Amino acid sequence: MLTAKQLRQKYLDFFKGKNHAIIPSAPLVPENDPTTLFTGSGMQPMIAYLMGENHPLGKRIADSQKSFRSGDIEDVGDNRHTTFFEMLGNWSLGDYFKQEQISWMFEFLTKEIGLDPKNLYVTAFRGDESLNIPRDDESVSIWKKIFKGVGIEALDVDLAEKNGMQDGRIFYYPVEKNWWSRAGVPANMPIGEPGGPDSEMFWDFGAGRGIHENSDWKDEPCHVNCDCGRFMEIGNNVFMEYLKTENGFEFLKQKNVDFGGGLERILAALNNNPDIFLTDIFEKAKVEIEKLSGKKYEDNKEAFRVILDHLRAAMFLIGDGVFPGNKDQGYFVRRLIRRAVRFAHKLGVQNNFCGDVAKIFISDYKSEYANLETDQEKIVAELLKEENKFRETLEKGLRIFDKAIATTWDDLDKPWDENMQTWDARKLTGKLVFDLYSTYGFPKELIIEEANKRNIVISNKALEEFQEEVKRHQDLSRTASEGKFKGGLADHSEKTTQFHTIAHLMLAGLRKVLGENVHQKGSNINGERIRFDFSHPDKMTEEQKKAVEDFVNEAIESKTEVVMEEMSPEEAKNAGAEGEFGHKYGDLVKVYSIGNYSKEICGGPHIKNTSEIKERFRIKKEESSSSGVRRIKAVVE
Ligand code: ALA
Repeated sequence: MLTAKQLRQKYLDFFKGKNHAIIPSAPLVPENDPTTLFTGSGMQPMIAYLMGENHPLGKRIADSQKSFRSGDIEDVGDNRHTTFFEMLGNWSLGDYFKQEQISWMFEFLTKEIGLDPKNLYVTAFRGDESLNIPRDDESVSIWKKIFKGVGIEALDVDLAEKNGMQDGRIFYYPVEKNWWSRAGVPANMPIGEPGGPDSEMFWDFGAGRGIHENSDWKDEPCHVNCDCGRFMEIGNNVFMEYLKTENGFEFLKQKNVDFGGGLERILAALNNNPDIFLTDIFEKAKVEIEKLSGKKYEDNKEAFRVILDHLRAAMFLIGDGVFPGNKDQGYFVRRLIRRAVRFAHKLGVQNNFCGDVAKIFISDYKSEYANLETDQEKIVAELLKEENKFRETLEKGLRIFDKAIATTWDDLDKPWDENMQTWDARKLTGKLVFDLYSTYGFPKELIIEEANKRNIVISNKALEEFQEEVKRHQDLSRTASEGKFKGGLADHSEKTTQFHTIAHLMLAGLRKVLGENVHQKGSNINGERIRFDFSHPDKMTEEQKKAVEDFVNEAIESKTEVVMEEMSPEEAKNAGAEGEFGHKYGDLVKVYSIGNYSKEICGGPHIKNTSEIKERFRIKKEESSSSGVRRIKAVVE
């Protein structure tokens, strides 16, 4: 049986053998991409190249990309969902297309790692008249031939979501299932966004074992996308050839392939066990939690899965510089750690434990992600800090809880409600439960547990009110994040590109004024402003801010050309380029120079000359971001 490490290596070696350049994983926090907080797929760092920019390493690229999907936090607990995962990826940047991609993928899965083709099912795009994009008959005919080559007559069938499997092997689905872009279905894509139809591959865990028949779904027709647990998607071949424009979809400059396959899921298929938490990735950490709690994984699957997933994700995120906090990315790290602690508490783990579990993951992953070893101390310290903070918050919440139910009965002016079983229960309104939940991180179950300890039953009415509050809250944050996506890409514009270049000048200015200890710690840029984090221990003075502004404005006024050169990371370092040399770069990097003002490693894009900037640069705000890191908000006006 392959380990995760062996599978990752086999995949990369396989594509190296097909003349692909292997690149290291990009960080989990995207650079210069205001559309999203996290890298959630392998293609995100590749956008510029899919749009037609030349990649320094050529037209064939492959990697294993660290990915984090914050939207899946609440789904963790079943056998397949994780927030963090590794996405095995390969790309054709205007080179090969469907024929090669589909044949190679089949070769890799069935020959290289030995999955039985009998248990492999695939899907294709049904076509959509309103988009004027045809059915993907080409992929279907390639799949048919390939299956035939191994003695399988692959029938293509439609409407499986209504009519079930119909003895098919290849299934057509609409845009909701077989279309991929960063923004999802075509209707949600902003103008300027690339996307395309895809062909997904599914592993059948239940063939001949009647899993579907015995599940809650037994009266529904089963099909590969039905979520009954029989099938699991293990990889997605996206044929990225379209661009959304004002006039509908047009072809991109080039036909691309974007493949993404879940390392953990392919491993589960190899194990022929749909529980990805039973792969070798989680084994040692699982044993540690069993030891700490005295409980068995088999009897407490949900809690174990949440703890395993969340701590692995938090470990990787902190390793990429995201510290627990209340805003943006930091908020998710906080939530991950707090949920893990809560579920561990349920298992009876009373003491701090996150650091111990993180160390186990670090020792397994450090050969692939070297920064984890150098950053181990920092990762463990941040986990411990957050764990302690959460325990304090919980205690404070408990005091508020007790105080709320200790107020006198006379305070209650509402009439007696049959729904309420005790006077005390009347005081546990949905609003209070929600406050405990949102401010003090008390999950509903914990509040019920604490109430029960005090012989109080929370009324159904209070629980309904609570659910309504939660929903209102979720709708609000969803609205905010949809706005974020549109806001970011709607002007995928010159302005954003100008700000990228200004960010280089600003970093150079900061290093000149504050010293060489200043390095970039993250950035978020859109058409309106730059948000920029950098390492520096103290608040900047007015004079320092002014000096940085003057430096940038002088560079703008000097009408200096922006020059890009490709070189090895070693050469870049020797040339004095600013960059994160602790990180792994590929064999070739792009170095952008702006006269004597700035020299920095970056993927681009940038303006050609500083004269394109017609306004003056101004720092609007300078504040603390986290310990040792300052944050600037800057504009041109
Ligand atoms: N970008 C595609 C995905 O994430 C491969 O599914």
